[in-house]
Amino acid sequence: MKMLKVENIQKSFGKTEVLKNISFSLEKGEVLAIIGSSGSGKTTLLRCLNFLETPQRGRITVNSEVLFDSSDSSKKKDLDVRKKRLHFGLVFQNFNLFPQYKVYDNITLAPLLMAREQIRENGSYYGAASLREAQQLIREEADNLLKKVGLFEKRDSYPGDLSGGQQQRVAIARALALNPDILCFDEPTSALDPELTGEVLNVIRGLKSSDSTMIVVTHEIGFAHDVADKIIFMDRGLIEEEGTPQQVIDNPQSARTREFLARFNQFGD
Ligand SMILES: Nc1ncnc2c1ncn2[C@@H]1O[C@H](COP(=O)(O)OP(=O)(O)O)[C@@H](O)[C@H]1O
Ligand SMILES: [Mg+2]
Repeated sequence: MKMLKVENIQKSFGKTEVLKNISFSLEKGEVLAIIGSSGSGKTTLLRCLNFLETPQRGRITVNSEVLFDSSDSSKKKDLDVRKKRLHFGLVFQNFNLFPQYKVYDNITLAPLLMAREQIRENGSYYGAASLREAQQLIREEADNLLKKVGLFEKRDSYPGDLSGGQQQRVAIARALALNPDILCFDEPTSALDPELTGEVLNVIRGLKSSDSTMIVVTHEIGFAHDVADKIIFMDRGLIEEEGTPQQVIDNPQSARTREFLARFNQFGD
């Protein structure tokens, strides 16, 4: 069964059509890498999936639940945006941590708010029936996630005291703390000095082996080749080519894909 189905997404800003007709799907546990030149619509696509932007057309289905359907206005009322967002996690290019909160609080803040709301509405949060029990659960999970990204000893530091690579690893832990079905990364290493990209890419690699379903927008072509099950090359708001890394990166069929990859090989990245 497809975990994610994206059908015919179209998004314009004013007269500029940024996403023309994007369709793809993803199985549970698959990693999709999206590559393409700057301005091709990669960030806009991730923002549409995370309901930070609303497409003009298309449909988004997660685990057979239609989260967005432009042809059915009632669907928009079924689920409020916040609940829809819970299916996706997003790690931004510039980390976007809360600078005034410690690492630990950056990770637990959203789950605590969620627990309060769910206990009020449904009487439980992942089996915890009281806020006190939920707090315990969230604390343990935050510690586990910090260990997973190798930053347990930094739990009481502030983001400003961490390196860019460490901040991005905290951002990954924070996204995981809400248990998203699909974790999205928007050029997670492009704001980092080259010597810090490896530690972040290794964390993402580790998530793949724990069966996370992920969409990674990246310019790290070698990493995409190693980690992704599937590659999409986006060009001017369209999927120009898609397939396995062997197909798209090693043996591209489209002249535009070849041109894009040649630029990378020439300048390195
Ligand atoms: N909020 C916005 N308003 C107007 N134009 C936008 C907005 N966001 C993105 N764009 C335009 O959409 C195009 C694609 O942008 P983006 O999705 O950021 O591409 P990429 O991430 O591939 O570099 C660009 O031409 C950009 O200027
Ligand atoms: Mg972008």
